[in-house]
Amino acid sequence: MKKKRILSGMRPTGKLHIGHYVGALENWIKLQDEYQSFHLIADYHVLTTDLNTEDIYDNTIEMLIDWLSAGLDPKKSPMFRQSQIKEHAELNLIFAMLITVNRLERNPTLKDQVRDLNIDNIIYGHLGYPVLQSADILLYKGDAVPVGEDQVPHVEITREIARRFNNQFGNVFPEPEPLLTRFPRLPGLDGDTKMSKSLNNTILLSDEPDVVKAKLKKAVTDPNKVRKGDPGHPDICLVYSYHKKFNNSEVPEIEKGCRSGELGCFDCKMNCAGKISSLLEPIIEKRKYYEKNINLVKDILFDGERQGRAEAEKTMTQVRKNMKIG
Ligand code: TRP
Repeated sequence: MKKKRILSGMRPTGKLHIGHYVGALENWIKLQDEYQSFHLIADYHVLTTDLNTEDIYDNTIEMLIDWLSAGLDPKKSPMFRQSQIKEHAELNLIFAMLITVNRLERNPTLKDQVRDLNIDNIIYGHLGYPVLQSADILLYKGDAVPVGEDQVPHVEITREIARRFNNQFGNVFPEPEPLLTRFPRLPGLDGDTKMSKSLNNTILLSDEPDVVKAKLKKAVTDPNKVRKGDPGHPDICLVYSYHKKFNNSEVPEIEKGCRSGELGCFDCKMNCAGKISSLLEPIIEKRKYYEKNINLVKDILFDGERQGRAEAEKTMTQVRKNMKIG
């Protein structure tokens, strides 16, 4: 049987952190055998909130190195930039005719962004963010899209656009399903609900063990547990939530020790740092290899773009034929 297709994407923001790994990358790596995968670097999407493009290429390469080092395999699935495949822009234009402004204004992810970034006058391209994302997904006829909770509304819009196109012009597109990552979002080192570069509360996939230790040392824990001996509340502690992900087998013991006070925060943090670093060790190792062989990384991107383009061109030919404009 033909494998189902996945289209996964990230905006290139530079080096990735462990939140990206837990929330997306780990899942993509697992899915790459079961599905035929396409991995998109959404560089045009960056422009919706940031017009400073000076670092965009470097950020792309850093992200790609993290993808490869963490285990995405370019032999199994192409990796490519949205901006290098013209069909993204072309299909975006057609899809823009299939959805109302009103529908896009109701997008909860957009509302959150407008609030978080204090935007008082939204640009046209930002309103159209999910339209471009729909083009990303449907150009490769994605059956499934691995995403976090915040992206589900965009997959819903993609389904609506696919339906609308198929009804109007004949069946070309599947209606993709979101594939939700099961693990809850990893909190930042400051206790914020989100690990994010702009909040400066991240552990990077490329952080060496001493850096991970130093960062964890400063992490916020239960404010009522000041010294060893004080009983703590693991459920409000971000280090505890890291243990759940990176040190699952010791969780019952840690919970007990924290509640009774027997386990001090420092020891608990250093244990956690060790577990995170053993996950990161092989990734850092591979990163060093790719950093030394940067031409190899560029070749992988070039080849991914060639493969992606071929797929995108096929779909666009079909779209134009169905629409009688080609
Ligand atoms: N909007 C996604 C995010 O911020 C990135 C993205 C762009 C994407 N195009 C996509 C994700 C297509 C999945 C499919 O995470």
